[in-house]
Amino acid sequence: MIQNDILLKHLSTVFDPELGANIVELGMIKDIQHTDKTVKIKLALTIADCPMRNQIETEINRKLKLLENVENVEITITAMDQKDRTAVMEKARKKARENAQPTNVDPRTRVIAIGSGKGGVGKSTLSANIALGLAKKGFQTGLLDADIWGFSIPRLLGISGRIEANSDKKMIPYTIGNLKVISTGLITSNEDTALMWRGLMLSKALEQFLTDVQWEDLDYLIIDLPPGTGDIQMALSRLLPQAELIVITTPQLMAQKVATRVADMAKRSFIPLLGVIENMSYFESNTGEKFNIFGEGGGEALSDKFGIPLLGKIPIGENTNDIADSGTPLINQENNSVTKVEIEKLINNIAIKLPPIIDETCTGRLAKVFEELSNQ
Ligand SMILES: Nc1ncnc2c1ncn2[C@@H]1O[C@H](COP(=O)(O)OP(=O)(O)OP(=O)(O)O)[C@@H](O)[C@H]1O
Ligand SMILES: [Mg+2]
Repeated sequence: MIQNDILLKHLSTVFDPELGANIVELGMIKDIQHTDKTVKIKLALTIADCPMRNQIETEINRKLKLLENVENVEITITAMDQKDRTAVMEKARKKARENAQPTNVDPRTRVIAIGSGKGGVGKSTLSANIALGLAKKGFQTGLLDADIWGFSIPRLLGISGRIEANSDKKMIPYTIGNLKVISTGLITSNEDTALMWRGLMLSKALEQFLTDVQWEDLDYLIIDLPPGTGDIQMALSRLLPQAELIVITTPQLMAQKVATRVADMAKRSFIPLLGVIENMSYFESNTGEKFNIFGEGGGEALSDKFGIPLLGKIPIGENTNDIADSGTPLINQENNSVTKVEIEKLINNIAIKLPPIIDETCTGRLAKVFEELSNQ
């Protein structure tokens, strides 16, 4: 059975976007019980027949079902009484006053970190394609290259140059359409700044990228992590409570074992696992024949072990190493290779599994109406 404090920790990543606070600190969870494979929750909304309560219920379902041993979530909705409603508004106001966001990333932004146990499995390649794909769908998207020393995003996107700061000394990301990019590769061309960055701890560097960058309102922030389970991974949950992790593995059993470590670490730091991507899954010839060059089953094994979805199986692409590595990401290439098609499916899958947070929920909007009415 899962302890209530762990369930609540997971639920505290469900935000009421308009109130800018999570449903646990807003006191909306009135009761919680875990028996067998079912979690029962009593959820108090500002009013019970709130037209947009679905969004909150879906989020609660999604977050809890990421946990092992949770298969059903039963939510009973109750309405807050006047006293509770006033308390919620008081909390929301206090929160706004404190301006408690530790980072410059809006709490409404969906944050997806892309990690792996092993190096060289395609984190950067897929991060670049996913971010670009989401931006092409019209979402405001950020791409943060958190591989501070092993950065590769600028090369993969074919961008160079140096990012500048605004009058508030916030860095302005490099912008391509709806995509905003930050990478040490875009700052270190000047020796002095390179030295400054060299002196920083890695987790501090990540913190700077989250606090000192003018990200503005993003729908998605994709974070390309360095390999392994180091400082950066550990700092993520502290800095971005809404972060979720996608684990990349290749099909061979050894790679999947190493990937397990990252997934384990994420669970220990309460970072929800969004899913698994198996990369370099197979090679498909012109005649449609498939060859399992690196073995098979790694992605499925990992998704089974953690009870999380396999978001995609990306085949080995002929144009990945040469063309993609020199600046034209697969989804921007002209030919419709199987790899490109599978990456596009993957991006659709991510946008479905983790749709952008809609700006207004009934709780926030209606609570405001109540407040205005009670002030009259
Ligand atoms: N599906 C694929 N088909 C063919 N080549 C690929 C595929 N995915 C990635 N690669 C190639 O594999 C190499 C490693 O990819 P990438 O740099 O994205 O991995 P990484 O996990 O970010 O590595 P690191 O751990 O060093 O940061 C690159 O040359 C890339 O082009
Ligand atoms: Mg990389």
